[in-house]
Amino acid sequence: MGKPMSIIISFFQTVGGEGKSALARGAAYSRAFSKAFKSIALVELDRQGDSTEWLKRRGDRVKKDKVQFLALPETKPDDLKKSLLKVIKESEIVILDCPGEGKVDFASELALNLSHLVLIPMRVSAKTRRLFVRNQWPTINDILSSDPSRTNSFYIVPTFIHPQTRPETVIQYFEGIMPPQISILESVFSFRNIYENFEEEGMTLLEYARSVKGNKRMFNQAGRALLDIEKISNDIINLIS
Ligand SMILES: Nc1ncnc2c1ncn2[C@@H]1O[C@H](COP(=O)(O)OP(=O)(O)O)[C@@H](O)[C@H]1O
Ligand SMILES: [Mg+2]
Repeated sequence: MGKPMSIIISFFQTVGGEGKSALARGAAYSRAFSKAFKSIALVELDRQGDSTEWLKRRGDRVKKDKVQFLALPETKPDDLKKSLLKVIKESEIVILDCPGEGKVDFASELALNLSHLVLIPMRVSAKTRRLFVRNQWPTINDILSSDPSRTNSFYIVPTFIHPQTRPETVIQYFEGIMPPQISILESVFSFRNIYENFEEEGMTLLEYARSVKGNKRMFNQAGRALLDIEKISNDIINLIS
């Protein structure tokens, strides 16, 4: 495949439920991304299709969206390549939400090969770390060995972090357990109760925040979640620009 003009980033994690889709959607629909990019595509590669279900619930709201959402699950390798190349041509930034199916499958491998930046959402969990070493690290290591220019393009995003935990503590933890070739994002994705509420409604975080303006407690929660997302999104933009 030729070198595409647009920027491609992946949320890559073979363990399900680590926050890939929440982060991919969060970044895609963030203010930061909206300001930084003229056209944004979000591609769901996961067969479980959480974001696809979310988009259905979104209904008419999609008409006003700047984000072009595309679901490409179960696509055959050649078809997937073709469809991806098309989105890449049309968008300034493409966000790939990788499958969380245990092994690094074809779709994940393609995403890794195309990406300028790979974000790895990960909880503070011995099990996730063990699975990372077994399933993800060999593929990443191969990529880094064959293409040294990819150094500094793999970042852990700590997820489900207790809101009271200092980010520095979490970052130090990951620095201690990860191979030196893997970097850690400076911001963490904190656990906030509200996520399920607005995902159920097919809303973005921003829309949800607006919808709960009358409820001080919910509005504060949404505000804190927005700060997390905007900080993470800005960190990502700084890494790719
Ligand atoms: N920061 C968060 N705080 C609270 N719940 C979250 C957070 N991020 C994700 N979730 C919830 O956890 C579940 C799994 O997250 P999801 O992003 O779908 O994971 P993945 O795509 O890695 O399988 C979803 O129900 C989502 O709403
Ligand atoms: Mg998902």
